[in-house]
Amino acid sequence: MMNLFLIGMMGSWKSTVGRKLAETIKMEFVDIDDAIEEVTEMKISDIFQEFGEARFREMETAFFSEKSKQENQIFSTGGGVIMDPRNRNVLKKNGTTIFLNASIETLAKRIHNTKKRPLLTDDNNLKSQLEKIWKERKKYYEDSAHHTIYTDNLNPIQVVDKILNLLENQFENH
Ligand code: S3P
Repeated sequence: MMNLFLIGMMGSWKSTVGRKLAETIKMEFVDIDDAIEEVTEMKISDIFQEFGEARFREMETAFFSEKSKQENQIFSTGGGVIMDPRNRNVLKKNGTTIFLNASIETLAKRIHNTKKRPLLTDDNNLKSQLEKIWKERKKYYEDSAHHTIYTDNLNPIQVVDKILNLLENQFENH
């Protein structure tokens, strides 16, 4: 199989689900944010603060395009990866992309630490900040995804099971 990409908003469980799925089916797991932090030896929030969002996006795109050249990996991407057309092209062509969708209400409940998420600056206005980001990105998540899973009423293990079902069906149909 080629790569499996998980996309979705902050709090959509991309990393939690990606890690569990990789353990279950014994595939390599790549978390793009973690990879950036490891190589730069900086926290994502510090990168935003020191160099700005535009520079972070360049790093994100460079890391993503480089890492996705190898196959058989499960990727957890940062929530904003779909903003760059080059990344959307990779998501469409270099594997299977699954959009973990959830309501703003659910995302806000799952996000506990906004310090780790520089785009969410105000704990008291979490929902309106998420709503604004969602409006800008909705189209790109939908355009980039081969499959969408609504996770509002699921736990991470159930999401993993849904992905396994999707992959089995995909395998059977080819
Ligand atoms: C971002 C999401 C974060 C991280 C950065 C920007 C975004 O990743 O890449 O703070 O633009 O949505 P998670 O989606 O894993 O929180």
